[in-house]
Amino acid sequence: MLEFSNHLLLLNCIFICADRIVFVSYNVLGVENASKHQDLYYNIPPKFLDWDHRKNLIRKELNFYHPGILCFQEVDRFDDLDNLLQKDGFRGVYLARTGEACDGCAIFWKNDLFTLLHQENIKFEMYGLRHNVAQLCVLKMTQNESNTDGNTQMSQALPSRSFVVGNIHVLFNPNRGDIKLGQVRLFLEKAHNLSQEWGSIPVVLCGDLNSVPQSAIYQFLVSCELDIQLHDRRKISGQICPLEYHPFQSQSGNAARWSNEELWLATGSRGVAPLMHHLKLCSAYTGVPGSFSFRTRDKIGEPLATSYHSKFMGTVDYIWHTEELVPVRVLDTLPIKTLRTMGGLPTKKWGSDHLALVCELAFADDSGT
Ligand SMILES: *[C@@H]1O[C@H](CO)[C@@H](O)[C@H](O)[C@H]1NC(C)=O
Ligand SMILES: *[C@@H]1O[C@H](CO)[C@@H](O)[C@H](O)[C@H]1NC(C)=O
Ligand SMILES: *[C@@H]1O[C@H](CO)[C@@H](O)[C@H](O)[C@H]1NC(C)=O
Repeated sequence: MLEFSNHLLLLNCIFICADRIVFVSYNVLGVENASKHQDLYYNIPPKFLDWDHRKNLIRKELNFYHPGILCFQEVDRFDDLDNLLQKDGFRGVYLARTGEACDGCAIFWKNDLFTLLHQENIKFEMYGLRHNVAQLCVLKMTQNESNTDGNTQMSQALPSRSFVVGNIHVLFNPNRGDIKLGQVRLFLEKAHNLSQEWGSIPVVLCGDLNSVPQSAIYQFLVSCELDIQLHDRRKISGQICPLEYHPFQSQSGNAARWSNEELWLATGSRGVAPLMHHLKLCSAYTGVPGSFSFRTRDKIGEPLATSYHSKFMGTVDYIWHTEELVPVRVLDTLPIKTLRTMGGLPTKKWGSDHLALVCELAFADDSGT
């Protein structure tokens, strides 16, 4: 059912031979979240919501993809995940939300392939931006000893494969576009700073942005710029009626008026200049055409749905990357028709109310071959 879409045009030797890494972004549905929001899962048999069942499904599914890096959101049983994934050769770091909620974000990496060089925790509470959190790690690919054995010259010529990987779960509240923007803005700025500090290394950003592809927040990520005053803060994430949402429509009248407080939260400054960021980001799925036989993508190539429960079906999860990386293949999400037939997630086969996004990225230069 699930298949990888290969970007045939890109599958030339340069990218086949270059170093490649499989990234996963997965909102695994917090155990507390599932029990507190029963209205979202009223039609799901309780056994499919059971964590012992779900955690094993998730582990089994992940192994199928041969991932190098895993970014999870809504993790409230980190020790369980950690124990399972250690058996599969992963190491991980966890960051819990501040405040009452007991879930958080976790990044895992395959321990024989990567070394953790640096870790940064972002607690948005410090900036007056609610209790959400995000993580940034600098990881380095392990040089393969057996390849370079007895050939020091060659091993010195191998490029150092370090990169920044980020993981975020943005505030859900559709009305608070100001806070969502503030969180995304800080996340991007800190990722950019970290990339610069480590020698302009590539950046991969995963997460649940609680914003749809037609939204102003998505536009901000793609175009590096947003004049927020053209938008209604309650519509900036496009979560409300996403299927009828008109792409990037300017608002007028009172709807667009932002209080000084909201402007400050969104932009972090008192000025009226457009909001900017400095990362040239591509969304991985838009770089690899979808399967022709199933309807899984929208016009720009984003999945049609990465999340599905009784109140929402749509796309809020993403893997972003900078230009030094090229998407080689992505895992197609489930077609809308298939999802509708299921009536909601999780199911006997799928362990969360989100689908895993999976993307293989290659270092775009061929000096590693
Ligand atoms: C999960 O729980 C957190 C904290 O209770 C909440 O902010 C978030 O909206 C919940 N997510 C879902 C999808 O219910
Ligand atoms: C290192 O290279 C050898 C031979 O090419 C290969 O069999 C092995 O899987 C590689 N190990 C890693 C960690 O990539
Ligand atoms: C990013 O780096 C700049 C320049 O060093 C600094 O002024 C800014 O505060 C940093 N941003 C964040 C969010 O840490």
